[in-house]
Amino acid sequence: MFSRLKTPLCDILGIEVPIITAGMAEAAGVDLAIAVSNAGGLGVMGCTMDSPDELREKIRAVRRGTDRPFGVDLLLPPNVSLEMVTNQDLLDQIPLAHREYREKLRKMFNVAQLSDGDHHVLGTGALEQIEVLFEEKIPVFVSGLGSPGFMIERARAQGMKVMGVVGNVKNARRVAAAGVDAVIAQGSEGGGHTGLVGTFALLPQVVDAIAPMPVVAAGSISDGRGLAAALVFGCQAVWVGTRFLATPEASIPQWKKEAIVAANEESTIRSRSYTGKPARMIKNAWTEQWEKGGVEPLPMPLQGALVSPVLNAVEGRSDIQPNAAGQGVGLIRDIKPAAQIVEEMVRDAEKIFASFARTGAKSALA
Ligand SMILES: Cc1cc2nc3c(=O)[nH]c(=O)nc-3n(C[C@H](O)[C@H](O)[C@H](O)COP(=O)(O)O)c2cc1C
Repeated sequence: MFSRLKTPLCDILGIEVPIITAGMAEAAGVDLAIAVSNAGGLGVMGCTMDSPDELREKIRAVRRGTDRPFGVDLLLPPNVSLEMVTNQDLLDQIPLAHREYREKLRKMFNVAQLSDGDHHVLGTGALEQIEVLFEEKIPVFVSGLGSPGFMIERARAQGMKVMGVVGNVKNARRVAAAGVDAVIAQGSEGGGHTGLVGTFALLPQVVDAIAPMPVVAAGSISDGRGLAAALVFGCQAVWVGTRFLATPEASIPQWKKEAIVAANEESTIRSRSYTGKPARMIKNAWTEQWEKGGVEPLPMPLQGALVSPVLNAVEGRSDIQPNAAGQGVGLIRDIKPAAQIVEEMVRDAEKIFASFARTGAKSALA
């Protein structure tokens, strides 16, 4: 697709249009990455929950579906010396009051028994996963948490591009100084783990702070207007999560897609009740109980270890299972193919710029 919206970052990443699907664990997999990359954007898989073998298989599957660039997103732990934490280590650290509260919730939500499967500690295993990325020579790596500084030299040596997600200017400077190719700045209204600074305030401040490094905009960008606004702020692409959840290609259950279509701008909450870190999701009875329960969620990774035996014991329970989404969810009214979303975003943003250039703001908005 030829587009006048192509930015210098598009050239760096080898893509035609400045749209990147956000890495979303268990939601952005092979099919979504293929669809977005084939549409001229960059499909990024959220692979933080995958074993090294699963990760390798996914990378190979994407390559079977597209010959265009794609990426992998992982959550890096704050300290890459990475002690491997076992589930028993975590369980030993959980206070009695929290176990009792979980038991109360288990009964309240009629969950017959706790699941005995191990909890995946976000961020552990990242070093092994990264080895797979190097072996498979993926085109683009994105760190969703933590700084990818420790791997930049090796990435550069094999032509892998690296980007890091941040939520404030301080971390933007830190990740930029580590030598990434671009920084993704996510405003508070975005889905999943998210900070406190709103997208409108964050983007121009990050652009100014790390210029001339390319900045990618994130946080409730859901249509062509969001893309146009991001470019006006000086960003060179958008990192879009929630909008791509309502697609046939997203690998989440149908009830989550329908809940996204039904939600409005006030349906989400920033809650620590699932992972221990603030993450934006659609409100449900579970987030409500943690808001008013009088027991503070534990820090990451303990909260995940505490609650996953309840969440994993049942399937398809919208009252307790998380459905991460940004505030832009209210703009999403249908489930449609990812390629169509890419095309419409580009077309609508181009129209906005063309009409402003031709007629000026007054008549363009009429
Ligand atoms: C369902 C879901 C899962 C997510 N999982 C991850 C993840 O595994 N790694 C990551 O870096 N960010 C994750 N995020 C955050 C997204 O990568 C992205 O930053 C965010 O969705 C952008 O905001 P938006 O949803 O409003 O477009 C997730 C977001 C959602 C909605």
